[in-house]
Parts: sequence; structure tokens; C-alpha cells
Amino acid sequence: MCGIVGYVGDRPCADILVDGLKRLEYRGYDSAGIAVVNEGVLDKRRAEGKLANLVSLLSDDPVDGPTGIGHTRWATHGRPAERNAHPHRKGSIAVVHNGIIENHLAIKSELSDQGHVFKSETDTEVIAHLVWKHREAGHALAEAVRMSVLRLEGAYSIVVLDADTPNTLVAARLASPLVLGVADGEGFVASDIPAILAHTREMAFIDDGVMAIVTPEGSTLRRIEDDAPVELKTQTVTWSPAMAEKGGHKHFMLKEICEQPDAISNTIRGRISLERSTVELPELDAVADALSDVSHFYIVACGTSWHAGMVGRYLFEELAKVSPHVELASEFRYRRAPIDKKTLVLAVSQSGETADTLAAIKDARGRGATVLSICNVIEASIPRASHATLYTHAGPEISVASTKAFTTQVAALHLLALHMGATRGAIDEATLSADLDALVRVPAILESMIGDDTPYMEFARAWHEATSMLFLGRGNLFPLALEGALKLKEISYIHAEGYAAGEMKHGPIALVEETVPSVFLNPRDDHFGKVRSNLQEVKARGGPVLTVYTEGHEDATRLTDFAIPIPEVPHRVLPLICAIPMQLLAYHMADFKGTDVDQPRNLAKSVTVE
Ligand code: F6R
Repeated sequence: MCGIVGYVGDRPCADILVDGLKRLEYRGYDSAGIAVVNEGVLDKRRAEGKLANLVSLLSDDPVDGPTGIGHTRWATHGRPAERNAHPHRKGSIAVVHNGIIENHLAIKSELSDQGHVFKSETDTEVIAHLVWKHREAGHALAEAVRMSVLRLEGAYSIVVLDADTPNTLVAARLASPLVLGVADGEGFVASDIPAILAHTREMAFIDDGVMAIVTPEGSTLRRIEDDAPVELKTQTVTWSPAMAEKGGHKHFMLKEICEQPDAISNTIRGRISLERSTVELPELDAVADALSDVSHFYIVACGTSWHAGMVGRYLFEELAKVSPHVELASEFRYRRAPIDKKTLVLAVSQSGETADTLAAIKDARGRGATVLSICNVIEASIPRASHATLYTHAGPEISVASTKAFTTQVAALHLLALHMGATRGAIDEATLSADLDALVRVPAILESMIGDDTPYMEFARAWHEATSMLFLGRGNLFPLALEGALKLKEISYIHAEGYAAGEMKHGPIALVEETVPSVFLNPRDDHFGKVRSNLQEVKARGGPVLTVYTEGHEDATRLTDFAIPIPEVPHRVLPLICAIPMQLLAYHMADFKGTDVDQPRNLAKSVTVE
């Protein structure tokens, strides 16, 4: 996601801010900016694109001073452009923000009615206006920030600067990380440790619902809800700069696996109302007719995104009573599949730049189809070539092997299937409300599954030298078998095949022998008995087996050599849950082998060639 850095002290801070932002570059961004206060004068510089653009702007037109904030933006609301870059300013106030303000439209319209004029398309700008309004009403900066953030719904970490309150920054956090750096005569604040690690190792991690008043003399914390004081507890961070970039994890892939609870929360945030039992996707208003009246429905994607699309098929069939063809974009673009004015083409792409997917939707659009996309990168080529886009808000994915992009695509597909079911009158209220309930519980369930690596390590220790493996599942876990095999082969270079378990006897069972382990996805669901029979067939031929099974269903583990438990969940969210064991298994196998996990050979993150 975006990056934040702030400084108060006695040094001119423009270089400190830019250097801090450079250390967050690995996170990905599309614009950057800083704001500094010098002797009561606030000035800002912002530039679209790489930090080098900001640096060159600063060298042509410098600003400096001993108090400042900086930001790298990864677009979520409003396209990447200078006017949408942070800091956002209103009067003497400048703000940087990470996260998503769900109720920004309501606040914006209320403030517009009071005469406020907004210059950007962002959700962030409302914060600057709110703080300024409370300052104008005579409140001190910290109180003005507190009153403002009490209005915000969603997720945020913010840092606020006020030209009229010298040597002070006010920061606040809800569901988005924020850390303070403590040093003699200086104060630092950042979204991530690497931004300030060069200056101090004494850090304090701010909790949700807490704000910080940062001055060169020291920082104080207050609870946002009631302004009660909160104790500041610092700790010494011993991470190396490289470790700090990965959040203390050995690889970006592991960091991104662990980020999935937050990433999925961001995908569903503001789009589900449990009270009203509705899915709210106003970004799809432009394609409402196409969603309700479809002649042909194609999902086009490549690789892991194609697997997400395959999970989507089960969701659309069950929830919207429509059966999409799930197509590999590289094939679909050369076929002459029937397309007419009532055809809906849904592109699924993390990067939004995959050449085959882009070509497929351009062709379909040219032939009259309505094109909808699910994408992680705002204003990438695929969203620009679509009539409407549902963004996943997963945050930048650095590791080449896709993890959080996949699960957030599946969550977005689930929302879309529910929305389409409601639009088409194909879903009853009880199903809708049960699925919404199941979806909102997913982040906490994933959180509980991440942390205990023991079963993965045991398997990896025993089998990291395998040369071939099979992954098997049925129903909506068949795509997960494909995804498990793809993850394993791309990062560990072990040959792996994913199959629908029922297909075993039609060929792949010939591969089974003592040196070829099979991974069975066999939770307690409608397919349990059938998958168990397939598992028995493998065991009878001497094949080693790892089973992903439902916790407490010990019967499932009787025939298996290795077992990985997952919590019991409603069947439509099983693919989201089963993604974790597939990812962690591949990760630990590759780590044991010592391959380059984050940048596997021969692969690129964004495939912009055919
Ligand atoms: C595998 C992986 C790739 C991508 C594929 C499509 O881990 O990341 O298979 O899923 O190249 O990329 P996007 O989703 O950017 O269109």
C-alpha cells in the first residue's frame, strides 16, 4: 500500500523525508509528495510517477524546513496523478493517509454543502478539510484531529501537519500500521519501520484507536475515543534494513501470505452491509443492464487469476444462476466464441497489464461485449479498456508468485456473484445474508491459520527433494488443486500436476508411486466420501499422501501420512481458506530447497508480452 514518513526536529527535513520514502519504494507506488513547514509557512511538492520525479522537482523548486511529512501513493480512489498525490492540503493543514475512508463521499457532500471546494478525487482530502474546519472553530490541533478521525469509517493511518502549530505532528491509526521513532531532540513517524530505521532503532508501535502528538521533545499518546492518555512503550528494533522491508519475514511471499486477512478486509470493506443484507458496488452502476440480462458470459484470465476465475464459476452458478465460460485469455483471444450486445466479459488480472487478457477484452469490446474487470492496480490498462472495474485493494504484490492477489480476486468474485444474484433476482435473502456473514468472518479465520508452520515444515523436510507431485480436489476445490500445483512448480521447480480428483483414474493415477506425493484437499464437505475413495486408490498404490482436512474430523486423517487441519467453514468460502495451505506448502518446500522464492527463474511479475 502507500507509505508514510514524518519528521519534527531541528534539521532541514526534505532529504530525510525523501530518503525515508526511498526506503519504502519496494512497496510499489505511483506518485509521491512531501509538505514541510518553515517559520509558519507550509509548502508542498508532489509528482506523479517515480520518486526521481519528485527529487528533480525539489531540485528545481526546493522546499525545506524542520517539520514535514512525506508519502508514496498507490492509487485506491482517483487515478495516479499529481492532483491526487499526497499530502493533501486545506489552509494551514496538510495530511498524508494510508487506508480507505469508507464514508468519504458522505463527508464530502456534507462539507461541499458548507462551501468546501475539493481539488482531488481522493478519499483523503476530506480529512484535511475536517481538521481545518475544527481548527477554524478554535480547537487545538490534536483535538481538531481527534474530532475529525471520530467521523471516519474504514481504515487509516494519518499524519497531520499544521503551519500554525510549530514543531508538531499529529498521527492517528485505525487498522493501518503506524510506528513512532524516538530520538534525542527529534521525532519520527512512519507507516513502516524501514522509512526511519536509518535514524533510530527506538520505536513505539501505535495501536488501533490511538493518536500520537509528536514533538522534538518527545511524543504523547491519547485514546481517540475519549482523549484518555495512553502509555508510550518503546522497543529496540534489531532488524536489518532488508528484514525490515519484509516486515521481519524472510521473503516478500511470506509477508504477503500473512497480509491476506487485511487484504481481504480491504476488498470487502465498505461493500457489504450486514444490517441491510446487501452488497454495494456503485462502481458497477454503468454495467447494471449487462449484469441482469446476459446472453453469453466469459471470464478471461491467465495463470493464478484464471484459477480465481474458475472458483468464480462455482459462485456465479450457485448464487446468480448463470454459468460463465472460464477462458484462458491466450486461447480465447484467438477463438471466435459467440459475442453479441448482451455478452458479458469479465477480465480477472492482478496487474491489469497482462497482454493476452488485455487483447482478449479489446477484441470482445470491439465486437459489442460489455467488459468488466477485477483488478488490483488502479487505472492500469485493463481497467482503462473496461466499461467498469471492481478493484481488489490488495495492496502491491512484490513476490512474483501471486498470493494475496488471488484470494482478494476470489473475494471480489464472491461479492460480484452475490451482487449479480441480487440484480437478477436469483438469490434468496437467507443465502445472501449467510454468505455475507461467512465472508466477513474470513479475515479472522485466515489470521488464526497463519503462524503455525509445523505441518508444512514436516512435509517439506521429508519431500523437498521430490521431483513430481500431484494436487487433487473436487468441486470448488478443484481450482485450488490447480493453484497448489502452480504455486509449487513456479517457486520450487518441482513438477506438479493439479487434477480434479475424479479424473485420477482416467490417467494421472499411472504416475503414483512411492516417490510421488499426492496432496488431497479433503475437508468435510459434500465431496468428502468421493475424495476419500480417490485417496484410498493412491494409498493402495504406495503413494505418500498429505491431506488438508477439517479440524476435529479425525476420521479424515486415518489414511494419510501428513495432515494439515483447516477450520470448518461454509462451503462457498472454502477456496479462500484452502488457499493458505496451498501457499504455505509451496513456500516451505521452496525455502527448504533454497530457491529464489520471491523471484523464481524465468518468471516476471507482469507479463506484458504474448
Ligand atoms: C502465478 C502468477 C501468474 C499470474 C498471471 C496473470 O503466481 O502470478 O500466473 O497470475 O501471470 O497475471 P495478472 O493477474 O497480473 O493478469
